[in-house]
Amino acid sequence: MGKTAIVYATLTGHSKKIAEAIGQALGIKAVNISALPSLEKSDLLFIVGGIYGGKSLPALLRFVKTLDPGNVNRTALLTSSARGQKQDHVRALLREKGIEVLDEFICPGSFLFLSMGHPNKTDLQEAIDFALKVAGKDS
Ligand SMILES: Cc1cc2nc3c(=O)[nH]c(=O)nc-3n(C[C@H](O)[C@H](O)[C@H](O)COP(=O)(O)O)c2cc1C
Repeated sequence: MGKTAIVYATLTGHSKKIAEAIGQALGIKAVNISALPSLEKSDLLFIVGGIYGGKSLPALLRFVKTLDPGNVNRTALLTSSARGQKQDHVRALLREKGIEVLDEFICPGSFLFLSMGHPNKTDLQEAIDFALKVAGKDS
């Protein structure tokens, strides 16, 4: 099996928590896209990000635009949002590039009083279960 990588973008820290939880489970260091990571050739890339006013962070979109389909084989999205919104723009950019999106996991985030207390322990465990399954390491 090829290399797996994890990147995240975060405003309030939830995506970092999720990315680090799945990183620990998979034995991989999760990288903040603000560090402008240049990815090694990856078979599977996890992209973890939140939703703000219905959108992904511009820095995450800029990062996704730089991805090279010759370098990244497949992706899976983990999305932290209070209303269950998805990373539609990230998905569309990946599709344009011909990079496959295997699946998307929605992890409850919080905004003001909406979904307060999330992501909690159970949410993080569900994110880990999703990541292990996608990476084929769930049994
Ligand atoms: C300014 C702001 C705007 C948000 N807008 C939305 C939104 O439009 N839809 C939604 O589902 N969640 C929204 N949320 C909730 C975030 O997506 C959620 O808290 C997420 O966990 C944030 O991820 P982060 O901590 O990695 O930045 C918003 C949060 C903030 C702070």
